[in-house]
Amino acid sequence: MNVPNHVAIILDGNGRWAKAKHMPRSYGHVVGCDNLEKVCYVARDLGIRYLTVYAFSTENWKRSKDEVEALMNLFRRYLKRCIKSSRENEMRVRVIGDASAFAPDIQESIRALEDFSKDYDKLHFQIALNYGGRDEILRAVTQIAQDAKEGKVPEGKMTEEFFESYLDTAGIPDPDLLIRTSGEQRLSNYLLWQLAYTEFYFTDIAWPDFHKPELIQAIEQYNRRDRRYGDAKEETNV
Ligand code: FPP
Repeated sequence: MNVPNHVAIILDGNGRWAKAKHMPRSYGHVVGCDNLEKVCYVARDLGIRYLTVYAFSTENWKRSKDEVEALMNLFRRYLKRCIKSSRENEMRVRVIGDASAFAPDIQESIRALEDFSKDYDKLHFQIALNYGGRDEILRAVTQIAQDAKEGKVPEGKMTEEFFESYLDTAGIPDPDLLIRTSGEQRLSNYLLWQLAYTEFYFTDIAWPDFHKPELIQAIEQYNRRDRRYGDAKEETNV
């Protein structure tokens, strides 16, 4: 099995999964969170080098006050717990998105986790929090304009490499495989720049039920795809 170097996942369906069990939506998020922890171990064992998950979008603030609060408390607990799995998986953890919107203690936990894990290299785990692809691009453009004013931007044609160095994912290779759970088939503002050449895999399985066999199935399907010329980036007529 050819394991993709970078797998991106849209963690969807926690709410519907819980509702189907006559439980509150927040229960779905708790089980989804436990599952995320397990999937990190699976990803490491399979030899995936980069895993990037969409945990909270710039749009998710519009959910009910109770649900947003429950998610924030879940992040609080998870970010602390993640120190252990980062050590066990030799996993570098980074948060992408605009973390400045979170409460100071959450921002501090993010800094602590990123700092604790910064030298690990087995698995690179990116958690998208308060992330939106358009917001990321606008933040990059704003920073480039600021740097240009200060004479820090080379004159002439803008290159992809230079632009990418301003994205939250600077230095991280683009995803090879995007997985979205729970039936919807859209990007929901996820990694808009980075997914330009990525293979997409959609499944009806809700995130809390997406385990090792489901991940292997997604990778097998990815393996069956006809990647003409070996690398989609080299395709000329698509
Ligand atoms: C989508 O399910 C999921 C979310 C908005 C939150 C994702 C969060 C987790 C998996 C848990 C924690 C993650 C971390 C990093 C601690 P949904 O609520 O949109 O489900 P629905 O589409 O069925 O309503």
